[in-house]
Amino acid sequence: MAKLLTIQGGKPLQGEVHVRGAKNLVPKSMVASLLGSEPSELHNVPEIKDVDIVTNLLTIHGVKVDRDAASGVMTLDPRETYSAEHSAIDTHAGDSRIPILFCGPLMHKNGEAFIPDLGGCRIGDRPINYHLEVLRNFGAVVDKRATGIHISAPKGLRGAKLELPFPSVGATEQVLLTAVLAEGITELKNSAVEPEIHDLIAILQQMGAIITVYTDRTIRIEGVSRLSGFRHRSIPDRNETASWASAALVTEGDIYVRGAAQRDLTAFLNTYRKIGGEFEVDEEGMRFWHAGEPLKPLVLETDVHPGFMTDWQQPMVVALTQANGVSIVHETVYENRFGFTQALTRMGASIQLHRECLGSNPCRFGQRNFLHSAVISGPSKLTGADIDIPDLRGGFSHLIAALAAKGTSNVTGIEIISRGYEYFIDKIAGLGADISISER
Ligand code: EPZ
Repeated sequence: MAKLLTIQGGKPLQGEVHVRGAKNLVPKSMVASLLGSEPSELHNVPEIKDVDIVTNLLTIHGVKVDRDAASGVMTLDPRETYSAEHSAIDTHAGDSRIPILFCGPLMHKNGEAFIPDLGGCRIGDRPINYHLEVLRNFGAVVDKRATGIHISAPKGLRGAKLELPFPSVGATEQVLLTAVLAEGITELKNSAVEPEIHDLIAILQQMGAIITVYTDRTIRIEGVSRLSGFRHRSIPDRNETASWASAALVTEGDIYVRGAAQRDLTAFLNTYRKIGGEFEVDEEGMRFWHAGEPLKPLVLETDVHPGFMTDWQQPMVVALTQANGVSIVHETVYENRFGFTQALTRMGASIQLHRECLGSNPCRFGQRNFLHSAVISGPSKLTGADIDIPDLRGGFSHLIAALAAKGTSNVTGIEIISRGYEYFIDKIAGLGADISISER
C-alpha cells in the first residue's frame, strides 16, 4: 500500500533533529570493505534505504553484515566472498546507482562483476560512460547485454593514466575502488574532491592503500597486493543538514541539528547568511534559524566542491520563493534538476526556467536544450497542493514548501525520501509540524 502524507502547513518548525552519517559516503564505505582481507567496522551509519540496498548486495556476495540500528555501528566481514546470481543482483539493486561501484572490488575478488540497469534520481540522463571508460583502461572487458553489463578482468587489473572529462564523484570513486589493488600506479586527473571522496580515501588508507591528492585535482594511487579492514566513523550528512537549515528558513523556524559539522558547509553557510538565515556552532551540532528580517534575493551558481553543492540547490530554491525580489539559480552539475519547481509553481511560486547559462560561468549545458537556469521572483504566498514526490532532494524541498504553505497538502511518493533522510516523518513531527500519515 502506498503512503499518503497530509500536511497542514503554516507552522514554524522548532526543535532538534539528529543527523548521522552521510548518505553519499556510508554506502561507498560498505563497498570498500569488500576489498579487505579482514573485517571492517563502520560507525554513524544511518537507517536509510541506500544502506539497506548495499547491505543486501554485499550479503548475496557472501559478506557478513551486522548492524545495530540504534548505535549506528555496522560490522562487515568479507572473508567468504563469492559471485552472486545476476538475477539476485538485479532484484536487490533497487533504484540505486551504487551497484556500479561494486565493479572494481568484485573483479579483484572474483574476476568478474555484473551491473543491472541502474536507477538513481531522475535528475538528468545519469550516464555511466566515465565509469566504463576508466574500467576499460584498467584492463577490464565490458560486455553490454540485454539484462545489464557483465565486466571481467581475465588478465587482472593494471594501474592506468586517466583524466575525467568532468570531476564526477562516482567515477572518481570507481577509480579509487579499482586502483588500490591494481598492479602499478594509477594517476587520475580532474578528479572530484568532495568531502565524501576524502572520507573514502581515509578509509582506503586505513586499509593499507597508498593514495596522494594533489592541489590540481590529481589523485595518485600506488596499487598494493593486499588490504586489511577499517574502523571508521562516517562524516555527517551535510546535505541533510543543509535541508533542515533551509526548512528553518522557509518556515521561519529554529532547528538544532545534532551531529552537524560546519567544516564541509562553507559555501552553503555563506549563502545562508546572505539570504537572511542565522546559524551557530557548538561541539555537538549546529543551530539554524530565520533571523527575522525579510529574506534577500541572490544569484546562485552550483558547482563541484568546494562550490555550492548541487544537492543544496533545491531546498534553497524554496527559500528564494520567499525572498523579497528576483533571484537567479544556475545549475551547472546536472542538466535537468529543476523538475521539482513545477509543484512549487502550482503552490503559488513564481519560477521561470531558461536554457541559457544565467551565471558568471558558461557551463556544459549552455546552448543545448536543457532548462538549467531558474529565475525566482518573491515573495510568493504558497498554498497547499497535491504533490507526488519526483526525486530525493526535490521531494524534500516539496515537504519544506508544504510545511510553509497555508492550507493542506497531500503528498504521495514519500518512500523516495527514505533513501536519504532517516526517520524524516518522525523528525518533522518532532519539530511541531501538523502532519498525518494514511495508507492509500
Ligand atoms: C553523486 O552522484 C551523489 N550521489 C549525488 O547526490 C551528487 O549530486 C553528485 O555526486 C554530485 O555531487 C551519490 O553519491 C550516491 P557525478 P554521482 O558522477 O556520482 C555526469 C543526492 O541527492 N556523468 O558527480 O552520480 C552526470 O550526468 C545525489 O544525494 C557523466 O556524464 O554524480 C552529471 O551531470 C543526487 N558520465 C555529472 O557528471 C558518468 O559516467 C556529475 O555526476 C558519470 C557522471
